Amino acid sequence: MAILKIARMGHPVLRSRAEPVADACAPEVGRLVTDMIETLRDAGGVGLAAPQVHVPRRIVIFCVPRSRAGNAEAAGGAPDGPVPLTVLINPEIEFLDERREEAYEACLSVPGLTGPVSRAVRIRYQGWTPSGSRIDRVAEGFHARVVQHEVDHLDGIVYPQRMTDLSTLAFAEEFARYGAPAARTRSVA
Ligand code: NI
Repeated sequence: MAILKIARMGHPVLRSRAEPVADACAPEVGRLVTDMIETLRDAGGVGLAAPQVHVPRRIVIFCVPRSRAGNAEAAGGAPDGPVPLTVLINPEIEFLDERREEAYEACLSVPGLTGPVSRAVRIRYQGWTPSGSRIDRVAEGFHARVVQHEVDHLDGIVYPQRMTDLSTLAFAEEFARYGAPAARTRSVA
C-alpha cells in the first residue's frame, strides 16, 4: 500500500487519452486500485482517475457521500442516492436524456480552485470491477457528475476545459467567502 503522487494540471499524463485495461482481474490492477483508494482517502476527495496518479489506464474510483447525495435517505439504488466506493475499469457512459445542469466542481489535479461545469443530468455507465464483475448503473445529479468528471480524465480532459466562462474560475477559499459572480446569468440548456 502506498499513497501516490497526484499529477497536477499541465502534466502531459492529464492531457493524453488513457489506454484500456486488458485484464481487469490482473494482480497489478488490484495493487494500483488499492493504492488509488489509499491516495483518495488521504487527499479527502470523492473521485480519482488512474492518470491522476501517472498511470495512463482506463480506471476510475469514486463515491457519493451521503452529504452530497440528492436523495440521501435512499437505501441504495436511487440514481442520485449515496454510492459506496466504486472501482470502474474501462468505463463507458451513455447520456440518457438532453437535460444538462451547471454546478461547481473541484479536482485534486487543480488544487485550490473551483469552477462551474455543465454536465448531463442523467446517465447510464458501465464497466468492470477488479474481481471481474460487470457494473451497469443509472446515475443522476452529483452521482452522474462525478462519473463524468472522472471519465473525462481518461480522455485527457480536466474540468476547466469544460468551462464556458473562465471569469467564474475561483479559488475555493474565495468562493466560500464571496460566492458565485452575481452579475452572470447562467443558461442551462
Ligand atoms: Ni478531477
